[in-house]
Formats: sequence, structure tokens, C-alpha cells
Amino acid sequence: MKNKKIVILGTGGTIAGTAAEAGDNLGYTAAQVGIGQLVAALPALTDSNCELLSEQVAQVDSKDMDFGIWRALAQRVAHWLAQDEVQGIVITHGTDTLEETAFFLQAVLDPAKPVVLTCAMRPATALAPDGPQNMLDAVAVASHAGARGVVAVCAGVIHGAVDVQKVHTYRLDAFSSGDAGPLGFVEEGRLRLLRNWPSAHAEQAQAAIKTIASSAVGQPWPRVEIVMNYAGADGRAVRALVADGVQGLVVAGTGNGALHHALEAVVLEAQAQGVRVVRATRCLEGRVLPKAGDVLPDSQGLSPVKARVALMLALLASDH
Ligand code: SIN
Repeated sequence: MKNKKIVILGTGGTIAGTAAEAGDNLGYTAAQVGIGQLVAALPALTDSNCELLSEQVAQVDSKDMDFGIWRALAQRVAHWLAQDEVQGIVITHGTDTLEETAFFLQAVLDPAKPVVLTCAMRPATALAPDGPQNMLDAVAVASHAGARGVVAVCAGVIHGAVDVQKVHTYRLDAFSSGDAGPLGFVEEGRLRLLRNWPSAHAEQAQAAIKTIASSAVGQPWPRVEIVMNYAGADGRAVRALVADGVQGLVVAGTGNGALHHALEAVVLEAQAQGVRVVRATRCLEGRVLPKAGDVLPDSQGLSPVKARVALMLALLASDH
């Protein structure tokens, strides 16, 4: 008799994708196979020392991820984590926005148990699908005593939610943790940890999940857009966004968060009008280092897409 449970929540993605021909790794449709079927197709999962339960929370290609699904997912994860017998959660997800969902869940739940997102770069019908091994590895991480926090597991590598980014369009090992490096590896079902699990700050998490829960279903979340700096950038797109009621802007600057002078002038104008602005970098590695006299706050090392999630949550909390 197994005393502990792992709950596997399905949200779609290529891991649940199907193609008309087994050799086709590109012309497939994501989010077709139910989570129950994916789990049933992997008898090796029953070797886990925990009982496995599965639940379909959504069924989408993750390019179409939205706030309604995030809200439902955060609530289901919080629900299951509150049960004493639940040891951890695995979430199957598309690779395209996995890093945003991972960061979102870490920010609102800051869990003291493991929440492991996993995925695949090839559909379930592929000649050599990668999803089954990723799922086994994810369950190994979720079952590991002492594991905690939101992590992503792909191609045998464990990444923390704050650092993980999709960096490749087709390789099976499509994710990187940049400068921070991965948290560890899953080697034949065993974990080799390189760094500590992220620590949990439960009080902060309680406040964030309450904010999400108390926002009405279907209520629009604060509008935050990302604007990039590049040669010839001017501020016209920012002017249009401000006129359209944008509440927050993440500017993905060049290098150390630098902006073309024309774009910077309009961004500062927007900030003076009450739009919350955060400065990130379009560089894949490193972080914006603040310097004396900076008027635009930096993203504290977050990538532009994660800085956008953080700013939306900050604006959502200040609305309540
Ligand atoms: C998706 O993100 O849902 C499709 C692409 C993938 O999972 O690799």
C-alpha cells in the first residue's frame, strides 16, 4: 500500500500532441491526448513509490495559454498541495510558455512541496517521443523526499522556475537556466542535485493566491505589454499603448537595459503619466545591473516575459 500520492495535472502541449504520420515531428496538433491516457500508456509510472492520480485542468497548445487557465491551475495545485497525503504535483505543459506558467505558479504559491512542470518537443505519436521519459523523470523529482518549489524537468535536466527559459526551437534539450545553471539532473531515475531547492516563503504565497482566488472569473488582469529596443526604435508603439490604456510596460532593452533615446523619452513620459515601467534586457544571459540615477526600475534579473508576469501580479495585488 502506497501512503503518498503524486497528482498529475494535464494542460495540453506537444506532450499530448498527435500527428497523422508517426515520422512527423512538426506537422502535428498539440493538446489532443487526455492526461489519463498519457499516464495509462506509461506502465513504468506504476514503479513510483507513490500512488498516481491524474486530472485534466486544460487542453491547449501553450501558445494559447491564458489567465483563466492560470487561475484554475493555481487553484487546483493549491487544493492538492493542501492534502497531507499529496507528496507533490506534476504538470504536463507545452514548451512554448512553460517558463511563464512555472514563474507564475512559483510567484503565487511558493510551494513547500514539489510542483514539477514537464513537456515534450515531439508529439505522443512520434517514432521516438521524448514525453514518456520526461514524465518518468518528472515523477521521480516530485517523489523525491525534500524536493520543493516549482521546477521544470526536460531532457533529464531540472531547472528552477525563476531561471528556466526555452532557448531552442527543436532540440529535445530545449531549455536552459542561463548563468544560474540547472538545479540538477535526473539520472536513471535518481536525482543529482547541483544546487539547493528554492526556499519557500509561505506567508507571501498565501497573500498572492488569495488575490488570484478573489479576482472574479473572467475579470481582465492588469494590461502589461513588452516593448523591445532595437536600431531605429522610436516611441510610437508606446504612445499607442498608453492611449489604449496600458497599465504596465516591460521594456526589453539592449545590453544593460539600454533604450534608444527616442524610445526612452516616450517611456519616461508614460511613467510620468502613471504607467508602471520595468526595465529588463533582451540579452539571454546576465541581468540588468542598476546604476546611480536610474529612473526606470530594473527587473531584478527576470527575463522580459517573467518581469511581465511579476508586474501583472503586483498591479493585481494593488487593485485589491
Ligand atoms: C505548446 O507549447 O503547447 C506546443 C509546443 C510544445 O509543446 O513544444
